[in-house]
Amino acid sequence: MIDEEKNVDTTIEEIPMPDAEALETPVLDTDVFDEGELTEAPAEKATEEEMDAELQKEVEENLVVVRHLKQYFDIPSGFFRSRPLKAVDDVSFSIKKGETLGLVGESGCGKTTTGRSILHLYKPTAGEIYYRGKKVSTKADVREMRKHATMVFQDPYSSLDPRMTVSDIIAEPIYVHKIFNHIADPKARKEAIKARVRELMDLVGLNSEHANRYPHEFSGGQRQRIGIARALAVDPDFIVCDEPVSALDVSIQAQVINMFEDLQQKLGLTYLFIAHDLMVVRHISKRIAVMYLGHMVELSDSDTVCDEPLHPYSISLLSAVPIPDPKIAQSNQRVVLEGDVPSPLHMPSGCPFRTRCAYATEACAAATPALREVLPGHFVACDRVEEIHPDRFGIPSDDVEA
Ligand SMILES: Nc1ncnc2c1ncn2[C@@H]1O[C@H](COP(=O)(O)OP(=O)(O)OP(=O)(O)O)[C@@H](O)[C@H]1O
Ligand code: SF4
Ligand SMILES: [Mg+2]
Repeated sequence: MIDEEKNVDTTIEEIPMPDAEALETPVLDTDVFDEGELTEAPAEKATEEEMDAELQKEVEENLVVVRHLKQYFDIPSGFFRSRPLKAVDDVSFSIKKGETLGLVGESGCGKTTTGRSILHLYKPTAGEIYYRGKKVSTKADVREMRKHATMVFQDPYSSLDPRMTVSDIIAEPIYVHKIFNHIADPKARKEAIKARVRELMDLVGLNSEHANRYPHEFSGGQRQRIGIARALAVDPDFIVCDEPVSALDVSIQAQVINMFEDLQQKLGLTYLFIAHDLMVVRHISKRIAVMYLGHMVELSDSDTVCDEPLHPYSISLLSAVPIPDPKIAQSNQRVVLEGDVPSPLHMPSGCPFRTRCAYATEACAAATPALREVLPGHFVACDRVEEIHPDRFGIPSDDVEA
């Protein structure tokens, strides 16, 4: 049961997050999120005037702007020693209001860490997050952001507390963020929250008469709907959807994806949609970002990334997607990646993909390629992209070095 007293002094530590054990990785240790530490850093003092014009425009035009985000984890490597695991390394992108940006890449490439770091569930090692036109710097900024930016988790089984009723699960963020605290009378407030929970259950297609049941009484798809209702309880405008359908049956996946789309239309939501299944991501996303070993290697609109990828890694990732038409599948050349993904603890020098790239040269070991706009709206992090695809850049193939 939710203790109403608890809501009198809500701190950021109380913001509902799934069971840390169930998430496999520890959630943010909020003790390290020291407001003073953040406000004292000179970079945090940047005012709007100090922002360069390009960044300022970006911040004005987008709901979420991520700049040079780094998330390193200290991994013990002997007595009193540790080394950084670079889960996310210098990632930048923006998401417009009402847009869905898909995030794809192999397991362990840093998709979840990116999503969590944006919401400050992990304190970013470096980089800036701008949300609703403002830099998220202080603890108060994070608290404010979390009132409107939230996350839907992959596993509908472990992300819901089995000891809480569905009603309590959905109402928890309402209590934590004191959303109904303007209603002075506690009885009237409780009634208003009950009505809101019923409304949210209806919105996600759950029978509100089942509000007093426990998560184990629901199917996987229904549990994910409970998780989505909980996310919607704060009336968000931005949701990080972390593989929200991967744990569901294929038939249920389609229903939940359709629901995400309907909710986006109805409520004007903005999504960062993380998934393994490229076809799911293509269906729901306006643009797709491809990650490899903590780096963003390609970013463009969904059709371009899926039909005309430029980065050697995206090409191999896309060529592994099964094609339903056997004739097209036969004519399609499959690019099989050699070798394993290197450990993020032992990153290769230069281009992170060079140990598996068929086009790698010595120069690729010298510097990490920047994500640059090689064609309008098409960003690629490969210094040889023009040489690899001369036809796409109108370069005569005679001019291309072997
Ligand atoms: N809390 C943590 N402590 C230490 N290492 C972590 C932590 N969280 C993630 N990592 C490591 O960071 C890297 C990126 O992990 P992340 O979970 O973000 O990948 P992912 O792309 O979401 O993978 P998947 O598709 O399997 O969910 C991995 O090497 C992972 O082991
Ligand atoms: S920079 Fe070099 S190693 Fe990296 S993707 Fe391009 S060709 Fe391959
Ligand atoms: Mg993940």
